[in-house]
Amino acid sequence: MKKTLLTLTTAVVLGLSSMYAYAADPIVIKFSHVVAPDTPKGKAADKFKALAEEKTKGAVKVEVYPNSTLYKDKEEMEALQMGAVQMLAPSLAKFGPLGVKEFEVFDLPYIFRGYDDLHKVTQGEVGASLLAKLEPKGVKGLAYWDNGFKVMSAGKPLKAPEDYKGLKMRIQSSKVLEAQMRALGANPQVMPFSETYQALQTGVVDGTENPPSNLFTQKMHEVQKNATVTNHGYLGYAVIANKDFWEKLPEDVRKGLDEAMKESTDFANQIAKEENDKALEAVKASGKTEIYTPTEDETKAMQKALAPVHTEMAERIGKDVIDSVYSATGFDPSK
Ligand code: LMR
Repeated sequence: MKKTLLTLTTAVVLGLSSMYAYAADPIVIKFSHVVAPDTPKGKAADKFKALAEEKTKGAVKVEVYPNSTLYKDKEEMEALQMGAVQMLAPSLAKFGPLGVKEFEVFDLPYIFRGYDDLHKVTQGEVGASLLAKLEPKGVKGLAYWDNGFKVMSAGKPLKAPEDYKGLKMRIQSSKVLEAQMRALGANPQVMPFSETYQALQTGVVDGTENPPSNLFTQKMHEVQKNATVTNHGYLGYAVIANKDFWEKLPEDVRKGLDEAMKESTDFANQIAKEENDKALEAVKASGKTEIYTPTEDETKAMQKALAPVHTEMAERIGKDVIDSVYSATGFDPSK
């Protein structure tokens, strides 16, 4: 009798404890990224974590790994496809190696006159149709997060296109960016973001291009004497998930995550411009990099030098994709 009671009690305790363990075991989302926490993407990832955990009442735990602590650029894409991480927000310039070259349309020089043009694409049909192209790769496109317009930097003043001649310029893994640097007579060097600071410091490369928030938070400005606010191109993100993981989530959990994504996207896109403006001011205040704002004529000369990149890259990106962007923004830089 005593023994039976003991067995029963043990069974109940075991049963309860395993039930408890089930309820307490959250679904873990590893969210890897390559920038500092104190950037538009870093802040938005942290915001998503807080909102996702709150909206799913703890059923989901989001682990954010910033600054390439888990994976570097190329590896993180492979890790997502293999399911080793569940979410990423790579720059739109990094989808070519995945086989989705159309995203490189965002890298075309001077394609957007500002954030308003950009949002007509990222928040409209063209943006949605581009995200859909990721699905056959096992990748679910969830949203676009803004960063900003790029400055060019190096160890010398950069005013005219000729100033770039022969410079080794670090770029992201985009053929459009490669063509852009070649059009300026520079020598493009594809390199992971995490290795850029050291490459600039040791002179492996001479310069680079980045929105001010990346330049400042990676301390690149400490190893670049000059930066020019060219605003020649855009750098922003697609937030993506492993498709299989996302689609197998319980319905109510996915609903909570969709809400969290929507709110963190609004947040990202609200803070991006201000974060970049602040970072540019901080670079100026540091006194380490001389910031130059080009004159109208200098901007025109850069636009002229870079215009051929649009036609040169039409075959790679798809002329239809480029035209769909021109028509969404109402702006064709060649006209
Ligand atoms: C870069 O490699 O320069 C950027 O894509 C980094 C980032 O994620 O903003």
